[in-house]
Amino acid sequence: KINTCIFDLDGVLVDTASYHFLAWKRLANSLGFDFSESDNERLKGVNRMSSLKMILDWAGLSKNENERSLLAEQKNDWYKTMIRTMNSSNLLPGTEAFLEELACSDYHLAVGSASKNAEAILQKTGIRHYFEVVVDGNMVSKSKPNPLVFLKAAELLFVDPKACAVFEDAQAGVEAALRAGMKVIGVAESANLLGAHGYVTGLSEMNIERLESIINGTPL
Ligand code: G6P
Ligand code: MG
Repeated sequence: KINTCIFDLDGVLVDTASYHFLAWKRLANSLGFDFSESDNERLKGVNRMSSLKMILDWAGLSKNENERSLLAEQKNDWYKTMIRTMNSSNLLPGTEAFLEELACSDYHLAVGSASKNAEAILQKTGIRHYFEVVVDGNMVSKSKPNPLVFLKAAELLFVDPKACAVFEDAQAGVEAALRAGMKVIGVAESANLLGAHGYVTGLSEMNIERLESIINGTPL
């Protein structure tokens, strides 16, 4: 029986995926390189340094460790400027209603995000109080698709990974959740997310009844 929901942050709860994309694109452009929105799908869920390495790889550029940390810092400065004025209007549709429904039904709720900005974003958007546990990029060294971020959340909640359902918009995140032995609900507008147990285009389509039907393999 599923009694725990673990949410990815960027692109599931909060509309930040496009800001990450714009900031990475600006960084790539400053290096004389560009990448497309479909390339960007592969960066979703991946931590900052690993994302940078992928972009440099695509560009065929090699940078030493010091240069890489300066580039990552530059991207994060641009990103932080974009999210500075963030508030509850930046929550994705359906986020608050679904969290409220789960909280009223005694589900354990956690966030499992690669982002080092997760706590700040949860505070700004006013949803921090829903989560017993927030595992973010400051707590785990290994990036999704490594399952550590989700296993750590289950461990801190004292729940079995098999009792957890993960909500993810990134391919790396779906893989991480599967490797953790958890159920996964893919949150995506298009059909480019593979391997999840069920899909919704956004949390506005979610409620506990739908969650249970996906988990029990009897889609509504
Ligand atoms: C999430 C996003 C990625 C982002 C990563 C690290 O997983 O989907 O696009 O690169 O977090 O975020 P940070 O805020 O630490 O740079
Ligand atoms: Mg995401």
